[in-house]
Amino acid sequence: MTQLIALVASLAGVASALPHHAVRRQVSELRDSYDFVIAGGGTAGLTVADRLTGAFPDKTVLVVEYGEIEYAPGTFDPPLTVWGGAGAAASRWAFSSLPNLEVDNKRGVVFAGQVVGGSSAVNGMFFDRPSRSDFEAWDQVNSPEYASSEDKWDWDGIFPYFQKSVTFTEPNAETVAEHGYTWDLSVYGGETPIYSSFPPFLWADHPVGRAAWSEMGIRTLTECAGGDKEGLCWIPISEHPETSRRSHSGLGHYAAVNETRTNYDLLVKHQVIRVVYPEDTTGSGPPLVEVRSRNDDRVFNVTANAEVILSAGTFHTPTILQRSGIGPASVLDEAEIPLVLDLPGVGSNFQDHCGPDLAWNYTEPLDLYPLPSDMSSDPDFAAEAAAQFDEIPARGPYTLAMSNSAIFVSLPNITADYEAIVSRIRDIVSNGTASSYLPPDHRDDPRMIAGYEHQLSVLADFFENPEAPSLESAFATGTSARAISLHALSRGTVRLNLTNPLEQPLLDYRSGSNPIDFDVHIAHLRYLRQMVTTPTMQQYGAVEVRPGADVQSDEDLLQHTKDSFTFSFMHPCCTAAMLPEEKGGVVGPDLRVHGLDGLRIADISVLPLLPSSHLSALAYAIGEKAADIIIREWSEDE
Ligand SMILES: Cc1cc2nc3c(=O)[nH]c(=O)nc-3n(C[C@H](O)[C@H](O)[C@H](O)COP(=O)(O)OP(=O)(O)OC[C@H]3O[C@@H](n4cnc5c(N)ncnc54)[C@H](O)[C@@H]3O)c2cc1C
Ligand SMILES: *[C@@H]1O[C@H](CO)[C@@H](O)[C@H](O)[C@H]1NC(C)=O
Ligand SMILES: *[C@@H]1O[C@H](CO)[C@@H](O)[C@H](O)[C@H]1NC(C)=O
Ligand SMILES: *[C@@H]1O[C@H](CO)[C@@H](O)[C@H](O)[C@H]1NC(C)=O
Ligand SMILES: *[C@@H]1O[C@H](CO)[C@@H](O)[C@H](O)[C@H]1NC(C)=O
Ligand SMILES: *[C@@H]1O[C@H](CO)[C@@H](O)[C@H](O)[C@H]1NC(C)=O
Ligand SMILES: *[C@@H]1O[C@H](CO)[C@@H](O)[C@H](O)[C@H]1NC(C)=O
Repeated sequence: MTQLIALVASLAGVASALPHHAVRRQVSELRDSYDFVIAGGGTAGLTVADRLTGAFPDKTVLVVEYGEIEYAPGTFDPPLTVWGGAGAAASRWAFSSLPNLEVDNKRGVVFAGQVVGGSSAVNGMFFDRPSRSDFEAWDQVNSPEYASSEDKWDWDGIFPYFQKSVTFTEPNAETVAEHGYTWDLSVYGGETPIYSSFPPFLWADHPVGRAAWSEMGIRTLTECAGGDKEGLCWIPISEHPETSRRSHSGLGHYAAVNETRTNYDLLVKHQVIRVVYPEDTTGSGPPLVEVRSRNDDRVFNVTANAEVILSAGTFHTPTILQRSGIGPASVLDEAEIPLVLDLPGVGSNFQDHCGPDLAWNYTEPLDLYPLPSDMSSDPDFAAEAAAQFDEIPARGPYTLAMSNSAIFVSLPNITADYEAIVSRIRDIVSNGTASSYLPPDHRDDPRMIAGYEHQLSVLADFFENPEAPSLESAFATGTSARAISLHALSRGTVRLNLTNPLEQPLLDYRSGSNPIDFDVHIAHLRYLRQMVTTPTMQQYGAVEVRPGADVQSDEDLLQHTKDSFTFSFMHPCCTAAMLPEEKGGVVGPDLRVHGLDGLRIADISVLPLLPSSHLSALAYAIGEKAADIIIREWSEDE
């Protein structure tokens, strides 16, 4: 009997001898095989892992995560470290993109989470949802091919997953009375330990920004997470309502469940190199997962019995695919990687939110207290702020993260010239010049051309829609504002560094490679600068200092756009897009990689188009919907 138990234990692998909630750190702690292997323990990946381990107690799941579990708290915690914080730096990659020809050869800076929890553990905590119009556009770029798919990615197809993916807590009456927050509880309703809430604190100049936006004629909305966000919004942030500590997927989808899920293994500090279809089974899945230890460089294969799910994010999901021989044939050929499948969309269709800025001075005293500047000028205020953050419930400036107001405005509401912009987009499709704006090696590829022209047609309709936001400006504090363009027409690439394919990929934003993007930026700037001339701002003697009152011509505004250009508002996406294969797509509506078995993608790289929102709420919703699709398929098989 004892022998039998010993035999069973050894068959079940070493893992059974470990406390089941312990994080794995080396290959000897893994089981012989897993039902599901997930590459990347980030926002979407851990959402999928949580749901699969919960739905299938008899199936095992391994998450392989590049980073550590000890995430650095502190992106917004005391002492205020904000983006440059040394603590946060250990938990994220910082990329410098390739020189961008159309923007004076400048490089963009963009971060990505490298830690259990992924980007949700290091991000700006702004927690908004896209507009209904974004999902209509997603549906349109996938029509007619996927019109009859069981898995719909239109508003009705994804809205329930937004609801399920977060627990929203209403602010208390005192906070509401002080700041005027509004919301509509009917758009929420989830009970999962991912939290969103409104902070108890706002800077005293916050109402100045909101008043200026209202005086520009922008309507104020009660709730912006229910599909209509054309207007001025209050945005909740991803933090716990009592402690005001960051809520992220590492906490909500791993630490909250690991004690009871004996089937949930997390391997940290390991890099998924590639997936491999053994020669006799090419294309019929699931593939092996080749993994490298970041401690000792040891490389080994993990066997998946059911499926492999890539959730390594916008930069690394396509990188893993390219290393696997799945990607643009020309790139793989140059990298001398044997071709498994020519999918030119892998690492293509790269988009981000980008745009110029605007700044002003107040020439009258801004007799408001407290202001962000008080944190540096008044040590007592700063010390009290730090102490307030440790109270329960927490109070004070550190509960705020970056702030929580934004405007979202459509092109028809921004400029009477919107029809000229829309006509130019339609012209480049009909006169055949659109393809000349694609990366050089895509200009002769009928799949990439068809996909791009279809996207442009959908975006032309989108830009005509007065309910489809084109501009975002966020935060409402300080003396500057950014004109964030929500839907760039230019397309970049994410590709292997041929010198060392195991290193970080090369990012080419190609911002402004489609010149119509600059027309949109300039229209946005002309509109947003009206903030400075509103009665509320004028009451404080606001003067535009950047670009400055003398900068009025298109030519000068174009130069200002380039001078002040931000390539990334940290929303890179779309590099493994859900589009038909003949339109340069990588996955179908069931998130399976085209032409391959046992391989899916569940992260923000599957977006075909960038939506009118920050991306973390959407990454959770994609994780939830991906899990439902996978659970449905494997339940049918039982
Ligand atoms: C600095 C910053 C600020 C942001 N601000 C906001 C904001 O305020 N509001 C908002 O809504 N969104 C914001 N975003 C965007 C949002 O957080 C992300 O779009 C979203 O979290 C991405 O989720 P994901 O699941 O696609 O990828 P991630 O959450 O990035 O997960 C990918 C995971 O894969 C791991 N990984 C990568 N390569 C490998 C490999 N080869 N092997 C194993 N593991 C690997 C990574 O370490 C990471 O944990 C911000 C992002 C950043 C980086
Ligand atoms: C935009 O235009 C629509 C339709 O004309 C209008 O209903 C809406 O209030 C406008 N939105 C903003 C933000 O001004
Ligand atoms: C879950 O895993 C973490 C990380 O190893 C560990 O610190 C924690 O104790 C575990 N939680 C539970 C409830 O077991
Ligand atoms: C993983 O398996 C593939 C296919 O059998 C093989 O080519 C590769 O060498 C293996 N990798 C390791 C590290 O064993
Ligand atoms: C605005 O502020 C800057 C920096 O303090 C200063 O150099 C500049 O002269 C000011 N401009 C105006 C118009 O007040
Ligand atoms: C195609 O249309 C664009 C936008 O209107 C225009 O700038 C361009 O000159 C046209 N090209 C040709 C070849 O007609
Ligand atoms: C590519 O990788 C090599 C080796 O790590 C590195 O030296 C080089 O700077 C990288 N290239 C770019 C363009 O980042």
